Amino acid sequence: MKLSLPALREMKRDGRPIVMITAYDHPSARIVDAAGVDLVLVGDSAANVVLGHESTVPATMDEMTMLTAAVNRGVENALVIGDLPFMSYQVSDAEAVANAGRLIKDGGADVVKLEGAGPSLERVRALVSAGIGVMGHIGLTPQTATALGGHKAQGRQADAARRLFLDAISLERAGCFALVLEAVPAPVATTISRRLAIPTIGIGSGPGTDGQVLVLHDMLGIPGDGREPRFVKRYAEIGDTIRAALAEYADDVREHRFPQEQHTYAMPDDELAIFEAAASDRHEHAEDRA
Ligand code: KIV
Repeated sequence: MKLSLPALREMKRDGRPIVMITAYDHPSARIVDAAGVDLVLVGDSAANVVLGHESTVPATMDEMTMLTAAVNRGVENALVIGDLPFMSYQVSDAEAVANAGRLIKDGGADVVKLEGAGPSLERVRALVSAGIGVMGHIGLTPQTATALGGHKAQGRQADAARRLFLDAISLERAGCFALVLEAVPAPVATTISRRLAIPTIGIGSGPGTDGQVLVLHDMLGIPGDGREPRFVKRYAEIGDTIRAALAEYADDVREHRFPQEQHTYAMPDDELAIFEAAASDRHEHAEDRA
C-alpha cells in the first residue's frame, strides 16, 4: 500500500527512521520498492549520475518527466518524489505549478521536491494551494552550488546555521511536508529536526535527522571511481561486479565459448535440410528474388 503523507508524519512522531533513496529507471525502481524503502526520489542528480553531465543544472522537464514515469511504473508502495529541475520553478508560480503538475500527471509522481527557501517559499505556497505535496531541500542545494561557493558543507558558522534554521521553519510554515537537509553540520541538522513538526531527511547531515537519503549509484559503487562525497557509505561494489562480468563475456565471445547450445534455437531436421538445399546456390536464390 502507498505510503501516505500522514503516515510519514507518524513515522517522525514515533521515532521510526525514514528511508529514502534515488532511482532513475524502471528496474532500479522495482528493486528499491521491493527492498521496502519509504521514499523514492527521482532526483535531478540523474543529470550527473545517469546522463553524464557535470552538474544537476542541465536537467530538463522532458528528461525528468520521462525518468519519473519509468520509476513510477516500477513502484507500488513507496512514495515517488519527482524533482523539479533548475529553472522549472524559479520564474513564476504559474510555471512552477504547471511543471509540478506535469511531473504528477505525466510522470506519475506522488509529490515534488524543490530547492531553497527565500523566493522558493512563494512557490511552495502556490504548489500546496494547487494540491501538490512539496518536499523542501536546503543546506547544500546543488542547483545553486556555484552561488554557494561549490559543493561544500553549509551552515558551519553560527550565523549561517541560524539562517538555515529560519529557512527550515519558513518552509514548514509555507506547507512543505518534509525537508531534505544536505551537507549541514550534524548538531545543526539535529536541532532543526527537533524543532520541526515535519520530517527531515538528511544527506551528509549526521544521524539526528528523521530519515536518510543516498544516491543509489553512490551507495552501490556505480561507477565506483572513488569520486563520491565523504558522506556516502558504500554498501556494495556493483561497478566492479559489472566490469568483471563484461570482461568475462568479452573473453567468452573472443574465445568462442559463448554462445553454447543452450543459448540457441533449434529447428526440425527436415526443415533445415530444405533450407540448406535452397541456400546452397546463392546465385540461383538471388535470381528467384529478382
Ligand atoms: O537530486 C538528488 O538526488 C537529491 C538528493 C541528493 C537529495 O536532491
